[in-house]
Amino acid sequence: MELPDHPTTTVSRRCFIGGCAAAATIVTTGTAAAAPDAQPCGTLPPGTVLAKKADVPLNGGVVVYFDDETSVVVAQPKKNTYTAFDAKCTHAGCMCSEVDQNLIICWCHDSRFSSVDGKRRSGPAKKPLPQIKTKIKGDDIVVA
Ligand code: FES
Repeated sequence: MELPDHPTTTVSRRCFIGGCAAAATIVTTGTAAAAPDAQPCGTLPPGTVLAKKADVPLNGGVVVYFDDETSVVVAQPKKNTYTAFDAKCTHAGCMCSEVDQNLIICWCHDSRFSSVDGKRRSGPAKKPLPQIKTKIKGDDIVVA
């Protein structure tokens, strides 16, 4: 797994849903750093914990890596408003690896997407990032 060469914090975790044993890594882009309790593996069944609210910085986000094909961006574009997107870039399939000032960034060719709705803001990508519906359950952000 290749991680971005930007200032980030990573936490390696195991995922426990669906019998997957692949390691997952959290990359935090912002001021906070931590990891969720459990992550999805390949699919995102309702109730899957994506991140803890406290781990997702305002105007930033976390990128949760599960395997080469499964990564999720969880962002907080407004105070106490959380969003989640498939991190796989719609340009050529690299994984977006950073959230900065409410922009989700794919460093492969510098596409940038809004962390509010996933729409492309700049770069060669044409389509938005697929959004993952979420809800709050206690301190967690989970798949709706
Ligand atoms: S793959 Fe993301 S910008 Fe090209």
